[in-house]
Amino acid sequence: MRKLFGIVVIFLLALPMTACGQNRVGENGTVGGNETISATDTIESVHEMGTEPDHTDSEPVAEEENIARAEFDFESKTVMLNSGYEMPINGLGTYSLHGDECINSVKSALSNGIRLIDTASAYGNEEEIGQAIREAVSEGIIRREDVFVTTKIYPGNEMENPSQSIQACIDRLDIGYVDLMLLHHPDPNDVEAYKTMEQFVKEGKIRSIGLSNWYVEELTEFLPQVDTVPALVQNEIHPYYQENDVIPFIQDLGIVVQGWYPLGGRGHTGELLGDPVISEIAGAHGVSSAQVILRWNLQKGVVVIPGSGNPDHIKENAELYHFSLTEDEMAQINDLDRGEKHDWY
Ligand SMILES: NC(=O)c1ccc[n+]([C@@H]2O[C@H](COP(=O)([O-])OP(=O)(O)OC[C@H]3O[C@@H](n4cnc5c(N)ncnc54)[C@H](OP(=O)(O)O)[C@@H]3O)[C@@H](O)[C@H]2O)c1
Repeated sequence: MRKLFGIVVIFLLALPMTACGQNRVGENGTVGGNETISATDTIESVHEMGTEPDHTDSEPVAEEENIARAEFDFESKTVMLNSGYEMPINGLGTYSLHGDECINSVKSALSNGIRLIDTASAYGNEEEIGQAIREAVSEGIIRREDVFVTTKIYPGNEMENPSQSIQACIDRLDIGYVDLMLLHHPDPNDVEAYKTMEQFVKEGKIRSIGLSNWYVEELTEFLPQVDTVPALVQNEIHPYYQENDVIPFIQDLGIVVQGWYPLGGRGHTGELLGDPVISEIAGAHGVSSAQVILRWNLQKGVVVIPGSGNPDHIKENAELYHFSLTEDEMAQINDLDRGEKHDWY
């Protein structure tokens, strides 16, 4: 019975998508892939995961009319989140950046047109990110409203005291509002922490909220317990770990998908960037393997946040819009999936 209820909720959430016949454009335009994922497909993916969510006391998470698969605009290089805010579709990941290297990398990204910066409380660099943005504003490189900053609160102490930890992120960044705040991982206190983020949205301190490292089973259990549909889910996605079942499940809920470790993550980039299939496609377009992988993500409707402390790489990673992958090239990269996760979460 509980399982049936969960399935009905998912069906109601997914139904408007099939009715609207959402278009997913592959080669040149918006989101990649040609198939429309049906409510039945979504339900089946829940079946396959053997999910047994406890939804007995919960309401469906979203108003049906709010659900629409977000499409990427390759002209403006943005996507419209379900919160009503536009977000750039390529950015800079800052996981391993600290001190001057972090400040210089963020400023280099902003100078090269990158308008999306991903950080987290756990990275220990929010102060440097904030400093770099404030400096870029005062140097006339950007206005505050031109840049979109994501941060995250961590499980354990931070989610036990969400008001305090959310405010601490805002204070460390010191750039006024935060564009997007995520729960970094599932946690026993994640629902309460999420509700606290909802309160910060009401107060105008955060604009959009979302989740990180939530997959089909976790989302199926979590979503009916909260009022706000997450604007975005950030998960590990690269050619060797493609999440081809998870991505459409999330997108059909009107949630934008963002990939971490787009280049495989440190220690794995050599193999991925040297992959013969990717290298050959890169050669055919006169671009780098990194650009091919990032472009492949964009054409699948996945926002990319490659990490780099190298100004040449940062510039290269921003140049993703002067070429496009053919359906055959997309299929060749799709075939590289090994289900090979490069981190434990
Ligand atoms: N939510 C989560 O749980 C989670 C987990 C992990 C990461 N993340 C986020 O995702 C971001 C991306 O992950 P990541 O930085 O760990 O891994 P990544 O982006 O897959 O790979 C970064 C590595 O790729 C290299 N690289 C970048 N651009 C390159 C290029 N054009 N050519 C050759 N090498 C290049 C970088 O070296 P150089 O510095 O020399 O360029 C670095 O060693 C993180 O920074 C973080 O913001 C989130």
